[in-house]
Amino acid sequence: MSTPDILLEAKNLAKHYSVSQGFLKPKATARALDGVSFILRPGKTLAVVGESGCGKSTLARQITMIEPPSGGELWMNGVNIAHADRAMKKRVRPLVQMVFQNPYASLNPRKKVGAMLEEPLIINTDLSRRQRSEKAQAMMAKVGLRPEHYGRYPHMFSGGQRQRIAIARALMLDPRVIVADEPVSALDVSIQAQVLNLLMDLQDSSSVAYLFISHNLAVVEHIADEVLVMYLGKTVEHASKEQLFSRPLHPYTKALLASTPHIDPAQRQKKIMLSGELPSPLAPPPGCAFNNRCPHAVERCRQEIPLLQVFEGRLVACHRVGEIS
Ligand SMILES: Nc1ncnc2c1ncn2[C@@H]1O[C@H](COP(=O)(O)OP(=O)(O)O)[C@@H](O)[C@H]1O
Ligand SMILES: [Mg+2]
Repeated sequence: MSTPDILLEAKNLAKHYSVSQGFLKPKATARALDGVSFILRPGKTLAVVGESGCGKSTLARQITMIEPPSGGELWMNGVNIAHADRAMKKRVRPLVQMVFQNPYASLNPRKKVGAMLEEPLIINTDLSRRQRSEKAQAMMAKVGLRPEHYGRYPHMFSGGQRQRIAIARALMLDPRVIVADEPVSALDVSIQAQVLNLLMDLQDSSSVAYLFISHNLAVVEHIADEVLVMYLGKTVEHASKEQLFSRPLHPYTKALLASTPHIDPAQRQKKIMLSGELPSPLAPPPGCAFNNRCPHAVERCRQEIPLLQVFEGRLVACHRVGEIS
């Protein structure tokens, strides 16, 4: 499992939450994440896309070891973290860092930038105070912050600069993987490209792998190498960026693309509008979870769960992919 080209591998990763339905009622199970598999490679970006509520943040919490998965395997450094003991998790945890959506909430308002960047070094290394400070200042330069920012508090920065601080903090321990959960969604559109370009530059120089989560395909087109499209906790399509944008195959991917602005209209497939809401993971429809919103659904789609299968060199979970593509 520790092939040099594989940094992290998720196999059938699942997270089911037990949800109270009220007094004296039996608990229900929310299958927030329901068997997702992928590999992260050095210097590559896997984007995970899907509507709000499809399980993206739940996936992020499993990969960053914030929560233990309820099923499947999560391999990193030759260890299945899903079943590792505390000591082993502690050793692996610094290798996977997270950047959150909201840089207003994710930075401690009472800590100066320098202290915030040095904190992970205090906990995880035995560097001296001076070495920590040097490392923090070098990282600030890398992410485009100025030396005088070292002693300032988060509230003195704009959203884009705060996200630079959050990215710098995530990089302090030289992680192999960064999970970025909607890292530019809270920023002005004019700032988004700057932060995306920064992430790409940092990847070029460090070979860090990104698991880049977004509901916005226009953002994903900028940064991804591969794209995994999720629907109700499951992968419906997993393809290279080129394949996905030039020829989406799953009806849900097509609908997502059709509803994304800024993408070349000539490339849009026949327009499928996403109607209706994402079903609850407490009560997914039988068969294909997308069947109640799919223009191509037939009886089989309402009865049989489609498997994720290779089709035209990528993975697709659709009974009708051969007929409709
Ligand atoms: N701790 C939890 N307990 C119960 N249900 C949860 C919990 N966390 C997330 N969920 C449910 O799991 C589903 C996926 O949520 P989430 O991963 O936040 O989706 P996304 O990030 O794609 O918007 C949602 O239906 C959400 O309500
Ligand atoms: Mg989320």
